[in-house]
Amino acid sequence: MEASLTLTQPDDWHVHLRDGAMLKQVARYTACRFRRAIIMPNLNPPVTTIAAATDYKKRILAATSDYPDFQPLMTAYLTDTIDGDELRAGYDEGIFSAAKLYPVNATTNSAFGVSDIKRIYPVLNIMQQIGMPLLVHGETVSPDIDIFDREAVFIETVMVPLLSEMPELKVVFEHITTKEAIDFVTAASDHVAATITAHHLQINRSDMLTGGIRPHLYCLPVAKRETHRQALRKAATSGNNRFFLGTDTAPHTTDEKESACGCAGIFSAPHALESYAQVFEEENALDKFEAFASLNGPAFYGLPINDRKISLIRTKQTIPEIIGSGELSVLPYRAGETITWKVRDTGEI
Ligand code: NCD
Ligand code: ZN
Repeated sequence: MEASLTLTQPDDWHVHLRDGAMLKQVARYTACRFRRAIIMPNLNPPVTTIAAATDYKKRILAATSDYPDFQPLMTAYLTDTIDGDELRAGYDEGIFSAAKLYPVNATTNSAFGVSDIKRIYPVLNIMQQIGMPLLVHGETVSPDIDIFDREAVFIETVMVPLLSEMPELKVVFEHITTKEAIDFVTAASDHVAATITAHHLQINRSDMLTGGIRPHLYCLPVAKRETHRQALRKAATSGNNRFFLGTDTAPHTTDEKESACGCAGIFSAPHALESYAQVFEEENALDKFEAFASLNGPAFYGLPINDRKISLIRTKQTIPEIIGSGELSVLPYRAGETITWKVRDTGEI
């Protein structure tokens, strides 16, 4: 058994850092481990302009000033009325690294999302021309589609027509949860990739609903049945360069989670990297871990790989029951559990 693992410092290609006091509380957990992170734009109001992204980036840099090497990569939130010229200018100036598609009301803070993707085809055409990646929350929102089928139906009704219309568009299918999504990405051109979260590699829908309903395991897309989790583990550890790390760490306060209508989102930043390492070890694929965590993402985004290394050591650590206090209390993913890997020298404060 390996006692330690050294790899190129990873990036997190899907992160919700929130804003205000929550941003100040959670940002360090990402910044002390990851060199870069794709920052989701689903604030309220959402980040739709260069000015908003520039200001948000400043607030993130202020919140992570103890980790001056951390680079937030900003994204634009696509709405029905998003301005294609603003996206082009933001991408050219290096303010926007990508744009995020939320189908309207699909998930947390998506009320301003896109009501029909055809309405933004002109904007997506601009993105295709300039090589700007489209990041997709891939769930259909029709109330007549069962929630466990929403990702698979989205592939047929949105992804397939979109890519046949715009075959050169760079697309990241975010936080995939189904075998259908894996098959789709695997068969697609190399313009199409996917992120996979640590929690979707570790939990299935029974974990969320057995022995009582566990609101802290509720996220969107919702965890699926075990066969899908197994397929995700196979894909992530396969060495296929179209799959890479994106935690989708999405903090909500305990009040927001433990309620009659609890919010979707799992706060995994503090120990996601260790959780991924555990999965790769269980799958006898630690030799593929660096590609998934640190190489495939930059290659897809056309960015250099990081010049620093980090190490994980095999040692037991217990995940705190709670992070923060009072109104800002957040339960981290796997709270109270003892895990086997630990990132060395995060300088976490
Ligand atoms: C995310 C959030 O809370 O912002 N929630 C989640 O369950 N993943 C939004 C999202 O990525 O769907
Ligand atoms: Zn997300």
